[in-house]
Amino acid sequence: MKHTKINEKFSENFKNIPKSFIREILNIAGSEKMISFAGGLPNPDFFPVEALKKSALEAFDTNGVEMLQYAGTRGYLPLRQWIADRYNKKYRLSVKAKNIIITNGSQQAIDVLSKMFVNPGDGVLVEKPTYLGGIQALSAYSPRFYETKLEKDGPDIIETGRVFDQNDVKLMYAIPNFQNPSGITYSEEKRKQIAALLEYHNVLMLEDDPYNEICFDENCEMPVYAYAPKHVFWTGSFSKMIAPGLRMGWVVIPDGYAEYFERAKQSVDLHSNNLSQYVVYQYLTNNYIDRHLIIIRKAYARQCTFMQQLIEKYLPHDVQFTKPRGGMFLWLKLPDRIDACKLVERTLKQNVVFVPGVSFYVSPNGKSNVRMNFSNASEKKMEEGIRIIASELKEMLQRVNGVSH
Ligand SMILES: Cc1ncc(COP(=O)(O)O)c(C=O)c1O
Repeated sequence: MKHTKINEKFSENFKNIPKSFIREILNIAGSEKMISFAGGLPNPDFFPVEALKKSALEAFDTNGVEMLQYAGTRGYLPLRQWIADRYNKKYRLSVKAKNIIITNGSQQAIDVLSKMFVNPGDGVLVEKPTYLGGIQALSAYSPRFYETKLEKDGPDIIETGRVFDQNDVKLMYAIPNFQNPSGITYSEEKRKQIAALLEYHNVLMLEDDPYNEICFDENCEMPVYAYAPKHVFWTGSFSKMIAPGLRMGWVVIPDGYAEYFERAKQSVDLHSNNLSQYVVYQYLTNNYIDRHLIIIRKAYARQCTFMQQLIEKYLPHDVQFTKPRGGMFLWLKLPDRIDACKLVERTLKQNVVFVPGVSFYVSPNGKSNVRMNFSNASEKKMEEGIRIIASELKEMLQRVNGVSH
């Protein structure tokens, strides 16, 4: 019998998917001892367990048979209508349920859209840095990546325009709200400028927006979708606002594309988890969600501020960090001579983990950057973890400089 190595059989597309530091680390980060600033995990203390349990029982009582059956690919219509109504109220849009498809997490929407649009070698523009799961999903279709630098208020517009001018870019993938990993939010001005560029160059956009409801203030900018509805696929998620284990997300789809998205999704999983859809809908119509959101927004805002205070207190003064208006992440810039991968190797030995910046680029960048999740750890663990990071960092700095900070 002819023996081959396992990986000789893998497709080129599969081989292009980079490993996820985060998901590998999540396998060990679940251990009791580990203080994790790594995943984008909501704080489990706030999971609405009782309300979801009650909603599940009610959903079984009223729709038990339907929710256990195969269902249509687009998803449960009342749930899609609920999402449309919420957007229309919040942003005064006129999104229709027929333009919304429910997905198994917004991660799936990124995969299905990549499947629909990306041929090997097609140009895809991403932020610099961007979400690792987005890079993974897109990479499976072997695009040619271009990057645009992120400034404090969104992408560098001149650079973005230049990339569109000089290259054949089909799709832009971006996270305008409380960006993962940087925590940056695009200004209204930049949203409009991006929309104008999309229209002018006829580029499609995947506006990834899972943190939309995790905002610490009332100033919500309009989505880019509002300014270029024919070019933007706008994804959302219940993962951060309720619980990621539900695996429930959605995508708002420009007119004319829904039937094609439906076909692409059919090839993946026929339809999204029907049971989850009914339970989530019951939970939403029981009016639990707004009370829940008030609680988690307040808690995460407090945790975010607390982490910033700890960084100021314990880390060297030349460590810079972003001040997000929502979401779950701070983005740190350590002194240039520090390799964040080496730092995490050291902190891991003391059961503290974060994600080094290199994971969030499609080019070799981010060596001295760090992404810190502030939503998951308790304040006590947060302080303990940051003290450990600070002490390892100071030791590394002493070694590289011979100077103590
Ligand atoms: C920017 C971004 N997009 C998509 C996702 C995937 O979320 P979901 O749980 O909805 O699949 C995440 C999860 O962390 C994320 O940070």
